[in-house]
Amino acid sequence: MSSQPGSKKVFFHTFGCQMNEYDTGKMRARLRAEGYTDASSPDDADLILLNTCSIREKAVQKMDSALGEYRRAKRDGQKVIIGVAGCVAQQEGNALLKRYPDLDMVFGPDGVPHIGSLVRKASEGQRVLDTDFLDLETYPFVQEIDPTTHGVGAFVTIQKGCDNKCTFCIVPTTRGAEASRPSEQIIQEVRDLVATGVQEITLIGQNVNSYGLKNTGEITFAQLLYKVAEVPGVERIRYTTSHPRDMGPDVVQAYRDLPQLTSHLHLPVQSGSSRVLRRMKRFYTRERFLSLVDDLRSARDDLTLTTDIIVGFPGETDEDFEQTMTLLDEAGFVGSFSFKYSPRPGTPALRLKDHLDDKVSGARLTRYQTRQRELSLAWTRGHEGKVVDVLVEGPSRHDEGVVAGRTGTNLMVNFPGSLELVGQTVPVRVTRGFTHTARGERV
Ligand code: SAH
Ligand code: SF4
Ligand code: F3S
Repeated sequence: MSSQPGSKKVFFHTFGCQMNEYDTGKMRARLRAEGYTDASSPDDADLILLNTCSIREKAVQKMDSALGEYRRAKRDGQKVIIGVAGCVAQQEGNALLKRYPDLDMVFGPDGVPHIGSLVRKASEGQRVLDTDFLDLETYPFVQEIDPTTHGVGAFVTIQKGCDNKCTFCIVPTTRGAEASRPSEQIIQEVRDLVATGVQEITLIGQNVNSYGLKNTGEITFAQLLYKVAEVPGVERIRYTTSHPRDMGPDVVQAYRDLPQLTSHLHLPVQSGSSRVLRRMKRFYTRERFLSLVDDLRSARDDLTLTTDIIVGFPGETDEDFEQTMTLLDEAGFVGSFSFKYSPRPGTPALRLKDHLDDKVSGARLTRYQTRQRELSLAWTRGHEGKVVDVLVEGPSRHDEGVVAGRTGTNLMVNFPGSLELVGQTVPVRVTRGFTHTARGERV
């Protein structure tokens, strides 16, 4: 724990979605300029930053228990600055500082661009609270890339915040209003990433399909896809998250035109019941969603879809839930992030009267997940004996001498091979499909 310039150490603990992972990378980049490098463990750190998620109650509990441990170490004598960043920080603000007298910093997602000055203040002994949202017109998207970028794939943010008001969701409170990042900055970041060896770009935002619509003179999301595809070295493009309401024919057309656009789309539907969708304020119906799926599949016949599902939204009847079950089969999702509805502070759905019994939601969730597992397994097994193109990402997590990579349809395939294959796209015969991954051999 020295404090000589250039030898300070920061430890990041990141919760939540891709936005948080990306923000952590940006904080790391900015803190390099303040003399910080990465600590190998929290005990070795002069600064611990928790980048937190508030999407469901459970996420907040996870961060509470991690924070408890770091605070204990501090009480036991570790000289360390502890900061809570991200969505819980934005939501709770000063209440966190009050609750934890030994906490040094609380700042929301809009604190990321000026992390340097926030940390300097904390080093001078001030307690830092920063939950102001920045001006949307001049929002200072951080341009430096994460200095530890080394992989085959990387995220690039294209917008911040969210202007929707889905009634269950805390994100508009924690991330503020939507602002699109200028397209030249996005393209520059893509080029910078490609220069480090990145081949697969995932464009991220809470509602990527509304990109640019509120900025005069900016290109649309579909146009942005074409621009990214023009950058030499970009082999694959993914994006997340798409809102079904805002997914227009121009984006569907991009699936016809752009081979770089992968044949996998994460398209959160939330529920299969139009009645529930209305109460969630999603502004599409089951029918509209299914017709969008048809359009997408006719543009790209091998397209695979994954989704997000909320089970047990207030007022969800047996009938409504059956609609979600049948939608799962009709849309043919190969994977879902599915969770029980979790009441979030200040969200409109809290005021709905008919909240469900946890047991009912639990039983529904189990049924949904069981069926999803069957469909996922049928999908991976459907590849057995076939040859697929795999972009190799790195060593397998479990076996030595085995590498792992994904197909454009997002099937994770493990196969015996050396690390020299990382970054190459190779033909692999699938020998066995499991629920989430497959095994194969090089041909
Ligand atoms: N912007 C994305 C979603 C971001 S939040 C979209 O509109 O699709 C990621 C997922 O968390 C959501 O799709 C939803 O399924 C889930 N989620 C959000 N709020 C939730 C809540 N209160 N309870 C349970 N799940 C929730
Ligand atoms: Fe939340 Fe809806 Fe915005 Fe997604 S689109 S972040 S679910 S409010
Ligand atoms: Fe969580 Fe905030 Fe992302 S609430 S899901 S970290 S936008």
